[in-house]
Amino acid sequence: MGAPQVCISLIVLFLTLGGTSDIKKQKRDTGFEIYKKLFEVKRKDQISALNNLIELNDVNQQYKIIDIMLKGLFKVLEDSRAVLIAADVQPDGPFPEDDKIKDAYSHTVENSAFFGDVVLRFPKIVHHYFDHNSNWNNLIRWGIGFCNLSGIFDDGPHSQLLGLMAQELGISEKSPDYRNPFKTDHSEFFPNADAFQKALREEEKRRKKEEKRKEIRKGPRITRSRSEL
Ligand SMILES: *[C@@H]1O[C@H](CO)[C@@H](O)[C@H](O)[C@H]1NC(C)=O
Repeated sequence: MGAPQVCISLIVLFLTLGGTSDIKKQKRDTGFEIYKKLFEVKRKDQISALNNLIELNDVNQQYKIIDIMLKGLFKVLEDSRAVLIAADVQPDGPFPEDDKIKDAYSHTVENSAFFGDVVLRFPKIVHHYFDHNSNWNNLIRWGIGFCNLSGIFDDGPHSQLLGLMAQELGISEKSPDYRNPFKTDHSEFFPNADAFQKALREEEKRRKKEEKRKEIRKGPRITRSRSEL
């Protein structure tokens, strides 16, 4: 058999083996490939939002913003997980076509990735909120597993993200050569916890003083008679 015949017989074999499942798979792959491009766009927006947060250069503000952000992020992750589980979506199965399920899918991978960015860039702040929250721990464990199987992180710029975030969060064991790639470059953004606690105490003191001053200005009797009404 010459080369052309081998080629033809391989093509025939390929076509006969294929059948409808290959057409389905191709359809899945098209949806998946389109989504992967959208994912990259979304990631750029997320990183630039995070860079703005870094540039704030104000730990108090960063704590406050991250606190609010994480509450929202995990709420979305929880709702998305419920949708995906109810619809029995497998991360490595056919790419969803239904809009609601597609949203749950994209919210899951995008929010998991974003959480990875946040924990690597602001490890102290994230550990402060995350470490005692077993619900969040369960959610992100599930999210990382889902992302890992989805294939979206397999190559490209995010291939390290899942492994790094799992180690930083203590979800998988830290390898001896683990190092947070952002920690040394941005060390100025990670002042120690003591400094933060001190700043917080001072802020609380200041607020208390402010409140007292207001009370004195209003007059204690007026305040009391008002509260009695
Ligand atoms: C992703 O899956 C592979 C294969 O199952 C596993 O070896 C790896 O530890 C997983 N990564 C994470 C971050 O869970």
